[in-house]
Amino acid sequence: MKKLRVGVLASGRGSNLQAIINASESGKIPAEVAVVISDNAEAPALDRAREHGIPAVYLHPPYYQSKEEYEQRIVLELREYGVELVCLAGYMRLVGRVLLEEFPNRIMNIHPALLPSFKGLHGQRQALEYGVRYSGCTVHFVDSGMDTGPIILQAVVPVLPEDGEEELAARILEREHVIYPEAVRLFAEGRLRVEGRKVIILPGEE
Ligand code: GAR
Repeated sequence: MKKLRVGVLASGRGSNLQAIINASESGKIPAEVAVVISDNAEAPALDRAREHGIPAVYLHPPYYQSKEEYEQRIVLELREYGVELVCLAGYMRLVGRVLLEEFPNRIMNIHPALLPSFKGLHGQRQALEYGVRYSGCTVHFVDSGMDTGPIILQAVVPVLPEDGEEELAARILEREHVIYPEAVRLFAEGRLRVEGRKVIILPGEE
């Protein structure tokens, strides 16, 4: 099967990027990371890409006149590498019109909470402060809102009484690293169909 070409946008640590790289290199998903783009020159995600021989591109946002111009440059890079699916992995910017129009229902994001709860920054801290008993993570398609697009997969973890933000974040992250590659796999196998707010998962061969 031809491998799906994935472009990853990441601003920081890149552990989700690593999970996707590992799953693709080990043949668990019929996909390959074609390029990693970051808005942060210091992002460890860029080093992770380089270590795996994946093109790592830093784009300096202040250099561009507008968000549109910045995203046009991202689109050029993604086209250059033949990207078919864009994965946001700790990308700390709201995606704008230019990227959305170029990749309709072809941009995914991972969020460290059970959407639609605790959108935006610090999803884990918000969950702790709210006092929920369960939280988790969500992979969703990106639309023009913040963390509002159609949900692909979710995983649930308990919130334990002794949890601080770090403990809860670590428990959630472990699940992120499972469901993100899984969502990419479903996409690569052509098994995700978006109908309004809902994502239908079509049956596979297994
Ligand atoms: C992850 O926990 C991801 O869910 C979160 O940032 C972290 C990035 O970690 N994303 C968001 O909060 C987006 N709103 P990583 O760089 O190690 O993948």
